[in-house]
Amino acid sequence: MKFEKRILVTGGAGFIGSHVVRLLVRKYPHYQIVNFDKLTYAGNLENLKDVDTAENYSFFKGDIVTASDVKEVFEQFNITDVIHLAAESHVDRSIEGPMDFVMTNVVGTVNLLQQAKASWKEEKEHVFHHVSTDEVYGSLTDEGYFTEQTSYDPRSPYSASKASSDHFVSAYHHTYGLPVKMSNCSNNYGSHHFPEKLIPLMIHNIVQKKPLPVYGKGENVRDWLWVEDHARAIDVIFHNGKVGESYNVGGLNEWTNIDLVRYLCRLMDRKLNRAEGESEELITYVTDRKGHDLRYAIDATKLETELGWKPSITFEEGLENTVDWYLANNDWVEKVTSGTYRTYYSKMYENR
Ligand code: NAD
Ligand code: TYD
Repeated sequence: MKFEKRILVTGGAGFIGSHVVRLLVRKYPHYQIVNFDKLTYAGNLENLKDVDTAENYSFFKGDIVTASDVKEVFEQFNITDVIHLAAESHVDRSIEGPMDFVMTNVVGTVNLLQQAKASWKEEKEHVFHHVSTDEVYGSLTDEGYFTEQTSYDPRSPYSASKASSDHFVSAYHHTYGLPVKMSNCSNNYGSHHFPEKLIPLMIHNIVQKKPLPVYGKGENVRDWLWVEDHARAIDVIFHNGKVGESYNVGGLNEWTNIDLVRYLCRLMDRKLNRAEGESEELITYVTDRKGHDLRYAIDATKLETELGWKPSITFEEGLENTVDWYLANNDWVEKVTSGTYRTYYSKMYENR
């Protein structure tokens, strides 16, 4: 079969990447979706069991840091477009060890840009969509929102590496005319989220009746978006966004960490038939994260007005849907965190 586009999705076995792959494989049978992933601790082919036999889906195990892997996949599939999600993504890990973040997020991104530049002769026919984070903008006080005009001010090794990758993407557009698009999204939540980030970790620990580690006083604010709405935004920006531009993605849905954890506790007490207030007793305030950004909040007006995107569900609906998924898929959690299944599961997280 001759595919209209052959899209390389990097990091397609990860949390957001797997939702992007699922959406594209189902919605566009005339596109070939090539999932390129190193399968680090965060990448898992279990995430794609429901689409991995589709005719328009292929998997290529490779490392974006290894230029020969990137060249091979471009040549083997005659790649026409890239949606780049592969990254080291956890702030706490970046504080413990920044070098993996420099290698994958910066060097890996530049390898992909180099290969796209070498392979693509006619820029109009291609798109390199770089998926990034709102954390590149730094930290807000109580007021205001991040817009596409906000100056970059990354403050963690993770956000510094993502900001650097964004600058390289922009530079390849300005210098070489590479047809790039960028998106910067707020915190995602949903199914298939590795249980080291706040929401899946708390769900897991509530089920297990383990302590719920809240950093500092729990007053930091995050702006949460359902992962499937992020995947829909990527679809819209990839197809209809303007070349050379970036789009902020977010759901105007701010929560302090402590309010969010308490809400989850109450929701899960009901789901698990526990006495009201039982899970809240598990909340444990722990030492704050170093350099902990106070508040993130996205203004997604550009995406909404120019491209007609808006979130499809409320946070309350999305969170209930997410909790139901974790309760029905405890075997997934066991598999992705168990020493026999994973080649690597950081000691850092074993006791939390
Ligand atoms: P994730 O950690 O769940 O998944 C990352 C994926 O990349 C994994 O499948 C992993 O195996 C793969 N990978 C890592 N290093 C690789 C390498 N060197 N070569 C090939 N593959 C490699 O991450 P996520 O939360 O799904 O985030 C995906 C992207 O979205 C990242 O670029 C992240 O910065 C961005 N983002 C995430 C969020 C969020 O809330 N999670 C918000 C905004 C933007
Ligand atoms: P996280 O899910 O790691 O995302 P990010 O740091 O990229 O925003 O953390 C979300 C918020 O929750 C952040 O303010 C840190 C806090 N947090 C805790 O309080 N306890 C935890 O165990 C984790 C993982 C995060």
